[in-house]
Amino acid sequence: MRIVIADDYKAMSRMAADEIEELVASDPSCVLGLATGSTPLGLYAELASDFEAGKTSFKDVTTFNLDEYCGLGADNPQGYRYFMNENLFDKVDVAGPSTHVPEGRSGDLDAECARYDKMIDEAGGIDLQLLGLGHNGHIGFNEPCDEFPKGTHVVDLTESTINANSRLFDSADEVPRQAITMGIGTIMAARRVLVVASGADKASIVKKAFLGPVTPEVPASILQFHPNALVIVDEEAAAELV
Ligand code: GLP
Repeated sequence: MRIVIADDYKAMSRMAADEIEELVASDPSCVLGLATGSTPLGLYAELASDFEAGKTSFKDVTTFNLDEYCGLGADNPQGYRYFMNENLFDKVDVAGPSTHVPEGRSGDLDAECARYDKMIDEAGGIDLQLLGLGHNGHIGFNEPCDEFPKGTHVVDLTESTINANSRLFDSADEVPRQAITMGIGTIMAARRVLVVASGADKASIVKKAFLGPVTPEVPASILQFHPNALVIVDEEAAAELV
């Protein structure tokens, strides 16, 4: 695992965008694993503006998002499909049918999880998985637990995640209690992993996850064992690394 410290959020976003754009330039039909949350917004804005400027194209790229809230559909502004359309997919030339987000409104969530893993397999696996970092060390929606979950599965969200994510809802009561997420096995199977973390509030979990013991209590810590993981943090998030 390599950890790179960027001066600030803008520099972190630019470095992460470069990683993705270089991959897409060398392999235009690559498979990208994508993430939601506030952290990747700057990076998505960089990708969109580079597309506008004719510097990159996603026309043959396939994408798989990490997760989705149970019960929220594509038309729900708090849902992750909506987030991705708004912040990236509608701003670049990726083909709509090549973008995948778990179907949170499926009537059979277990079948949806199996379908999602099968689609990733059939696409040849993920070339690069982008990840943000939850305050409790979650990646995707893999919350701290007793063992690392393997495939895509339904998860009960922790109170801390519900509270952290309530800023994007009218109240914590409206945050769904469950989500579908790729498993740790799915994430670890990606050929490359790119983590972005920003801000002073992430400093302690960045240290715990990337310098502390590997444990399912801190799901992101498993990334220390990934053969090709790059972590890009800004100076505030790196404050406890030195
Ligand atoms: C959510 C998402 C994660 C994301 C995390 C951190 O819970 N499911 O994929 O990494 O939030 O979000 P932020 O980047 O807003 O801190």
